[in-house]
Amino acid sequence: MSETILVLGACGQIGTELTQKLREIYGKDNVIASDIREGSKEFVDAGPFEIIDAKNRSQILEAIQKYNVTQVYLMAAMLSATAEKLPQKAWNLNMSSLLVVLELAREKHIKQVYWPSSIAVFGNTSPKIDTPQKTIMEPSTVYGISKVSGEHWCNYYYEKFGVDVRSLRYPGIISWKTRPGGGTTDYAVDIYFKAQEEGKYECFLNEKTRLPMMYMNDAIDATIQLMQTESNNIKTRTAYNLAAMSFTPAEIAQEIKKHIPDFSISYNPDFRQEIADSWPQVIDDNNARKDWSWKHQFDLELMTKEMLKNIS
Ligand code: SER
Repeated sequence: MSETILVLGACGQIGTELTQKLREIYGKDNVIASDIREGSKEFVDAGPFEIIDAKNRSQILEAIQKYNVTQVYLMAAMLSATAEKLPQKAWNLNMSSLLVVLELAREKHIKQVYWPSSIAVFGNTSPKIDTPQKTIMEPSTVYGISKVSGEHWCNYYYEKFGVDVRSLRYPGIISWKTRPGGGTTDYAVDIYFKAQEEGKYECFLNEKTRLPMMYMNDAIDATIQLMQTESNNIKTRTAYNLAAMSFTPAEIAQEIKKHIPDFSISYNPDFRQEIADSWPQVIDDNNARKDWSWKHQFDLELMTKEMLKNIS
């Protein structure tokens, strides 16, 4: 399978590790990393890199033609907490970039598109436990509104124009290589760094806030697996529910204490509490498991070992 892949937003939390993994699989010269600003020297030197604003059609088209790109992974987005502060800007970035890429695919400049959705598509009226693939979706955040709208645009381009676009509803993604920015689930990354550096952490969500989460390795594997699945097996063209584990701040703190016995956590919920409270606690991802054999590897225990080992 010979593909040439353009990653938009390659310097972000997921983009960084996705780019590295894609380069291992497809060869470093077949994966073009891009972002609105230059990444670290190490990252820029590791393979082709272009400065691209994901909203800018002509910049994207130029890169597609320069490298004969066949697939685009659109990873540029503004996350939930920042989006509540900059609603217009978030909508503009999250929507314009998707519509530009979908149009380029409709015009047959590229063959396949990946675009991430999120558990944020669900809202207060969705079931919180075992949230089904199809259910009421009334998101209360700008980020969630942009993701639910984007899912429908993906499905529309697939149904109307046969555009091969695929998507996953990511839970909170936990990683140590690149820190996330502006998300509601970011506490579950910060807590590991603070545990190693200071032995204590003040959490911006209360102790009982259960949210779906996933270790980065699983998220990357799911993404690439979805993109490599034969098109006929993809039965959902909005976005698939995807799950690995769910935990509360108290539970992750307890797990960290097994490695750092003196670790302490305190709670000081802010505006992100309301966002978290509107999201599901446990997601049902049986469709992904059935349609393309999705299987996660990391639970809270294994992830905690990996995170603390790599951060120290
Ligand atoms: N992790 C994201 C956020 O917290 C949700 O997709 O915004």
